[in-house]
Amino acid sequence: MSMTQASAPGKVYLFGEHAVVYGRPALACAIELRARVKVLSTRREGVHVGGSRGPESIHKYPYLATAVRLLEQRCAAPISGVKLKITSSIPAGAGLGSSAAVTVATIGALSHALDVGLGEEDIARMGYEVERNVQGSASPTDTYLSTFGGAYIMPEARRLTPPRCGIVVGDTKRSASTKALVAMVRELKSHHPELVEDIMDAMATLSREGERLLEAGELSELGRLMNINHALLNALGVGTPELDRLASAARAAGALGAKITGAGGGGCIVCLADEEDTPQVANAIRRARGRAYIVRPAEVGLVVEG
Ligand code: MEV
Repeated sequence: MSMTQASAPGKVYLFGEHAVVYGRPALACAIELRARVKVLSTRREGVHVGGSRGPESIHKYPYLATAVRLLEQRCAAPISGVKLKITSSIPAGAGLGSSAAVTVATIGALSHALDVGLGEEDIARMGYEVERNVQGSASPTDTYLSTFGGAYIMPEARRLTPPRCGIVVGDTKRSASTKALVAMVRELKSHHPELVEDIMDAMATLSREGERLLEAGELSELGRLMNINHALLNALGVGTPELDRLASAARAAGALGAKITGAGGGGCIVCLADEEDTPQVANAIRRARGRAYIVRPAEVGLVVEG
């Protein structure tokens, strides 16, 4: 087995998280924060993950264990004698698609190292199946964007031009479980189906309007719609005071729009800003006790080398 490594990017949602789980359109953009996976051979049986405390069983990592199981089913043979080394610049549990990026990079690297012969569509589909298995319900957005890069309307997978402006991510430094938040929205929806359907329909309108404004380069209006999407995510109960604090600070510092990105409950906000305003938006987020990342769209998704 040759040494193979792969990397895949994280992503932000400009519109439509949570609603996309119920088939509404979402608009997401891959960003240049990446997870990297190296596949190494080892004399140990099974698959291990190399960490600072020595190799650990893959079973401690539900996304990776599920990815390996699906790959084993695909090639109808056990995978053994493999160590995965994972590094990532994507904060984990922060709504930036870190688990999808690690999953896609792992499937890509293992498929190449073991000659499974998966194409990009197969990898995105298998990544989605992993997320659905681990999270209960999921949309294909995170794994699709990690595989293909770029900006897309999902679930149709229509490729768009990424926003031509600055993107700032503000991290509350509090991680949250996507699975728990998706379950929380499902519970709210079961109690108030009509109300939650209406909120999700409004989110769908935001995604469609957002697509038009993005293509037209009308970024100030796009930002306004992001602020509305933030408020609707609060209405679904996935907001927190920290997320509100970061979003307000970013807007006051000149962001065109600021909203929760991903599942919420902690995690991150995403802001669009004129390029020259990104340092002041990032500083405002830091002053509001967040961590800030000025990021670029990732045009390329999964990259496999080996
Ligand atoms: C999580 O990044 C986004 C959600 O819409 C869940 C999903 O799409 O799988 C909350």
